[in-house]
Amino acid sequence: MSSSNPLLSGMQPTGPLHIGNYLGALKNWTSLQDEFDCSFFIADLHAMTIEYDPKDMPVYVNELALTYLAAGLDPEKCNIFIQSHVPEHSELAWIFNTIVPIGELERMTQYKDKSEQHKQNINAGLFTYPALMAADILMHKPVGVPVGEDQTQHVELARSIAKKFNKTFGKTFPEPKVILTPTPRVMSLVDPEKKMSKSKGEKHYIGMFEDPKSIRKKIMSAVTDSASGSKKMPAGVENLFTLLEACGAEKSLIATFMEQYNEKSLQYKDLKEATADTVIAMLKPIQEKRKQLESDPGYVADALLKGTTAAQAVAKETMKEVKEKCGLL
Ligand code: AMP
Ligand code: TRP
Repeated sequence: MSSSNPLLSGMQPTGPLHIGNYLGALKNWTSLQDEFDCSFFIADLHAMTIEYDPKDMPVYVNELALTYLAAGLDPEKCNIFIQSHVPEHSELAWIFNTIVPIGELERMTQYKDKSEQHKQNINAGLFTYPALMAADILMHKPVGVPVGEDQTQHVELARSIAKKFNKTFGKTFPEPKVILTPTPRVMSLVDPEKKMSKSKGEKHYIGMFEDPKSIRKKIMSAVTDSASGSKKMPAGVENLFTLLEACGAEKSLIATFMEQYNEKSLQYKDLKEATADTVIAMLKPIQEKRKQLESDPGYVADALLKGTTAAQAVAKETMKEVKEKCGLL
């Protein structure tokens, strides 16, 4: 671990994760924790920007904590904490709200997409979401932020907020870089031109804790034909190759399928069977670990307590510096 090169990232507790979340971010976190001083948190305040049932929140927070640990995050190697338990994040977000131009927030594609999806609830929190995200990030002064491609624009805005704060109040924050995986954008199984996401419906994604039968069924019915009829590999087929590789299939197997594809002899059924086998095998140990963790709630609670205590100490220090620089202390 190198404490001079911290990394930070988080996810929203909005229900079970899918393999896009895993391959785009979480899997990478489990490797990065071996090399860097990492903090990974549960963005419960961000999850409030979409309509939700308060009864679900603790369930989803616990679900995400279990998922982090089942995937291999180790509380001995990294800090895992809950965003709302470190209230300085909201305090810093307010300060960033006073320096981020409205025009920059209006450019955010996630804001535009979510406003479109949730027309009845376009709240101010949805709009200023990136200022809170910048606060989450910069509070911990990381050098990098490992996320999927859809979060790149938000991390870039955090860099620009850091720059503006430093220019206005004096050098305080680093300008962290985005860290992407080789699969920063896993595509939907039935609409492979769009990213895999829960909001589109059950058939579009594979949940990390889905049972093998259901995983196989979804992959066997994945869309492989392209409507465009162009010479390019259809997006659905490309997505299956991507999953096969990212989930750890033998290189020789991938090469064989690719040769068959080029010779136009590839049976998509074979490609799908192999992809299903590979995805199921990748998820098996994670699913088993989760069962084990479910019977040990004390372990999860201890992990969160340790991570939260560490995050609170960092936040206190950063806020003292920020308040002094802003003339509040
Ligand atoms: P979210 O579920 O939006 O909180 O996303 C959690 C993390 O997963 C973020 O780092 C996202 O960028 C990443 N992510 C979400 N969907 C995908 C996808 N289809 N492919 C790759 N990464 C993704
Ligand atoms: N917006 C991120 C997502 O939807 C979650 C998030 C909130 C985050 N704050 C962050 C990610 C800080 C990285 C760093 O996935």
